[in-house]
Amino acid sequence: MPKLSIRDLDLAHKRVLIRVDFNVPLTADSTTSTPEVLDDTRIRETIPTIEYAVRHKAKVILCSHLGRPKGKVVPALSLRVVVDRLRELLDRAIGPSENVAFSPDCVGELAEELSSKLESGQTLLLENLRFHPEEERNDPEFAKQLASLCDVYVNDAFGAAHRAHASTEGVTHHVAQSAAGLLLEKELQYLGKAVTDPVKPFVAIIGGAKVSDKIEVIDNLLGRADAILIGGAMAYTFLNAQGQSTGKSLVEVDKIAVAKAALEKAAENGVKLLLPTDHVLADRFAGDAKTEIFSGTGPFPPELMALDIGPATIDTYTREVLAAETVVWNGPMGVFELPAFAKGTNAIAEAVAANDHATTIVGGGDSVSALHKSGVADKITHISTGGGASLEFLEGKVLPGVAALSDRA
Ligand code: 3PG
Repeated sequence: MPKLSIRDLDLAHKRVLIRVDFNVPLTADSTTSTPEVLDDTRIRETIPTIEYAVRHKAKVILCSHLGRPKGKVVPALSLRVVVDRLRELLDRAIGPSENVAFSPDCVGELAEELSSKLESGQTLLLENLRFHPEEERNDPEFAKQLASLCDVYVNDAFGAAHRAHASTEGVTHHVAQSAAGLLLEKELQYLGKAVTDPVKPFVAIIGGAKVSDKIEVIDNLLGRADAILIGGAMAYTFLNAQGQSTGKSLVEVDKIAVAKAALEKAAENGVKLLLPTDHVLADRFAGDAKTEIFSGTGPFPPELMALDIGPATIDTYTREVLAAETVVWNGPMGVFELPAFAKGTNAIAEAVAANDHATTIVGGGDSVSALHKSGVADKITHISTGGGASLEFLEGKVLPGVAALSDRA
């Protein structure tokens, strides 16, 4: 890793500002009742970094965004909601003597006072960065205010590393040293190896509704993967590009040419770009729709739409996944929220989990939730905490939050 790591820093008795991604899902009716954390994965994943800093006697200041309050104070998006969970997790990791204080603003007099009073080994969590419009604008004055709270800066927010915001990018211009936290390092290590130096065969499974969301990933992986397995509604744009008419299935007409170009590039590069060969067709988009399996290259019945991959496709994709040494999976194979159309996605989750000789990497909310639903998440080598960030990384883009960190040299 060409960037400084938290392990390279002298942390003892220093104020360390750690940018974390505590953008966690909350209970839905948070406007009427006190919101609660629905899934604490992102909090749990940052504990090793916080623990490391605490054990090295740092004064730890945590900052994060939560949701998209658009530069205004939105009480339902206060980071206070994570304090209890964070305390519990840190108690378990480090022992009950430590505590977590909360600052009701992330900058200004109170934040300055609370951070300056921190003792070594104590932790302070700052309020939602996005309550200030300057955060997303990457305002230099705001970045300077954040930097004034600390002696060194650590970015552990992989999920937000694709954003050039004040707390991920701007702040690094105003501190002496900016380093990667342990989670950020781990994400870059797994995703980076898959993209630059994968053990072959390298199979990528890319699903989801839209070609436009995933085409840059597909394009980048066409130069690196041995096989790319396509699923989800975007498969129907690809099938249209091959001249098959797909009934009422979702098709991005303006992306047919892009899909065609990807198919041509795959053929030129000798990469297997596999499309579903059979489909679960439905008469409407509903859990109780009438369904049938359709296979072959002929036109779909015009009144039906495809909502999942069929059993033959599941077999083919499973074989590819099991033969791989590196697997990257992002995006569902069908409308997996509806049990009638979840088979394809669940089968992929099980196949990825069943491959115990490969490095398996899964990103994206839907694929990760399919892993949890299938009860196989613990069989995956690396589950990314980044949605947009992992996609941009797989697209081959430089993440501003990573680029801004101090070079090791
Ligand atoms: C995420 O959930 O992907 C990250 O926390 C980034 O959130 P954002 O898309 O609101 O910037």
